[in-house]
Amino acid sequence: MDLKNQRQDYHTKVLLEEEIGMNPFELFTAWFLEANQVEAEANAFTIATSMNNRPQARTVLLKELTNDCFVFFTNYHSTKGRSIESNPNVSMLFFWQKLERQIRIEGVASKTSATYSDEYFYSRPIESQIGAIASTQSAELNERYVLEDRIKELTAFYKTNPIIRPENWGGFAIKPSYFEFWQGRASRLHDRIVYEVNGDSWKRGRLYP
Ligand SMILES: Cc1cc2nc3c(=O)[nH]c(=O)nc-3n(C[C@H](O)[C@H](O)[C@H](O)COP(=O)(O)O)c2cc1C
Repeated sequence: MDLKNQRQDYHTKVLLEEEIGMNPFELFTAWFLEANQVEAEANAFTIATSMNNRPQARTVLLKELTNDCFVFFTNYHSTKGRSIESNPNVSMLFFWQKLERQIRIEGVASKTSATYSDEYFYSRPIESQIGAIASTQSAELNERYVLEDRIKELTAFYKTNPIIRPENWGGFAIKPSYFEFWQGRASRLHDRIVYEVNGDSWKRGRLYP
């Protein structure tokens, strides 16, 4: 593997103060809409959590952007769920390769209401609902057939019984206090614009690349 000579130059776009406003949600939305046209799964992002000084990152899917929060769904008993329970400070990362863009977000995560989680849970295909019930996410699974047998059992059971969302499955809403918008530029002289929460508004700045 010749990684040292693997080099990509970025030159398609720029990020200038005069072209953006003071609201990071508006810029996120504009970038997201563009990414959604060209990236396979623009709503996939990495979420890093930290429990007992052990940082852990994984990909999840953005399912809603409300007025002030980013929402994803998961199992509250999973590693990430327990991590957020013990330390709600999280970091999110979107990387949109075709646009040569990255967005870093830091914020605090909290569980969405049961009603909100229900609404999304029941909108999912039945197979996904059964999957969420069958998977004790992040617990050790000795053999795959154990999960497959459980899915068969539950699928038969739910032919005649109503499905109920497990209490340990639902949404997390992340309220951001920091955004960094990164636009790749030539010769590694990238643009980095940051927004930090400042009372009811946002303070905007620029970082060296
Ligand atoms: C593209 C992609 C999307 C994913 N979306 C989710 C998601 O929305 N929710 C989720 O719980 N896991 C999702 N996963 C799986 C997680 O990355 C992870 O494997 C799982 O949640 C267990 O993580 P944990 O043990 O750190 O809790 C996704 C994985 C990929 C690659």
